[in-house]
Amino acid sequence: MPSATPNSSSPRIVLGVAGGIAAYKSVDLLRRLRDANYFVSPVLTPDATRFVGAVTFSALASEPARTSLYGDPTTPIPHTYLGQHADLIVVAPATAHLIARFAMGLADDLLTATLLASRAPVLLCPAMHTEMWEQPSVQENLATLRRRGVLVLEPSSGVLAGGDVGTGRMREPDEIVEMIERIVRGYRGPLTGRRVLISAGGTREPIDPVRVLSNRSSGRQGYALAEVAARLGAKVTLVSTVELGLALDVVRSIEVVKVQSAAEMHDAVVSRASQSDVVIMSAAVADFTVEPSSSKLKKDAGIPQLTLVPTADILIDVVRNRSEGQVIVGFAAETDDVKTNALEKLRRKGVDLLVVNDVAAPGVGFEHPTNEVTLLDRDEVAETVSLRSKEAISLEILTRVASLLTQGAS
Ligand code: CTP
Repeated sequence: MPSATPNSSSPRIVLGVAGGIAAYKSVDLLRRLRDANYFVSPVLTPDATRFVGAVTFSALASEPARTSLYGDPTTPIPHTYLGQHADLIVVAPATAHLIARFAMGLADDLLTATLLASRAPVLLCPAMHTEMWEQPSVQENLATLRRRGVLVLEPSSGVLAGGDVGTGRMREPDEIVEMIERIVRGYRGPLTGRRVLISAGGTREPIDPVRVLSNRSSGRQGYALAEVAARLGAKVTLVSTVELGLALDVVRSIEVVKVQSAAEMHDAVVSRASQSDVVIMSAAVADFTVEPSSSKLKKDAGIPQLTLVPTADILIDVVRNRSEGQVIVGFAAETDDVKTNALEKLRRKGVDLLVVNDVAAPGVGFEHPTNEVTLLDRDEVAETVSLRSKEAISLEILTRVASLLTQGAS
């Protein structure tokens, strides 16, 4: 049997093309992927060949385009050959029909069989008319696929087939290539090769099966830190009490660990800290918890007496067990005597950098998309970063972190 095992060291992409008019743009996508040094194997559904000929794809691709499960001269099992060797499967355009078949796990042509026969990441680039895109069935199928880890590059709004205008236009080939580069090759930046552990959100301390003690932290600053760290090249672990959704370009380089209480966050952070080059505690951790009741406290039983007990300080435990060269960042949420309290906190916690929030100021801290912070370093030098987005604040913090790492802070 002739062997179809690939011998190229270029990243391998299966380019799936379903039957929609945007298939003509996939020819350009293919050419751009070849220019970017990918090994591209096109797979066209039978309907795709009604829009663009397989010969066109074959002429540009790294190997001939395939259109069928049967009759392949190189292998009797093209779906497993393609699926097992792919670094990424891109489906562009992904039609409503293809999305439905993939969500159902059907394998009635070579493309759907390849999707099933693969553990590679999958990027769908949907293209369809607005009415189809907005159908609950289509959106539910996409939600199902997203839950399973499939990446979806949402269509843009613009001119559609027949001259209609609306949402459903496949993203342009250059945008798709950019996304593919992020997924396959990742970002390179000052945090490349570094493992960064970030905590986010307010902890929830159970009082009984229904009620919790919590705080107003939204987790947005922690999520922004995670996304920016990933874009600077880091491998990020985010220990979070909230789920906010991550940008498509970094979702694969961020591991999210979901926790609820201060005790759960303590275990999740402390157990991972020694494998991390950087630990950033941006979570608002409860200082006190309660012994929870196993059944719901009833109103008729009178006013409950809650006895608060202190939680362990995660940051202090991380600092106590710090490893050589590790950079540790703490946050301080203050409302009064900000400077004095922040200095006291810096000394007490022993961190390399303290990010101080005056949460009483307008546009700052909890629930806002913006923040203004003072960065306080180990030498007690303070620098104010004026009001800006939480992403821009994150960039300031992480740039400091990257420079501390190169100085070998200990
Ligand atoms: N922190 C922690 N574990 C706790 C409490 C806080 O790791 N049990 C961390 C926070 O994530 C933050 C820093 O310590 O990075 C400071 O948190 P903050 O609430 O501002 O200070 P506290 O130490 O709790 O002191 P206070 O509430 O009295 O200001």
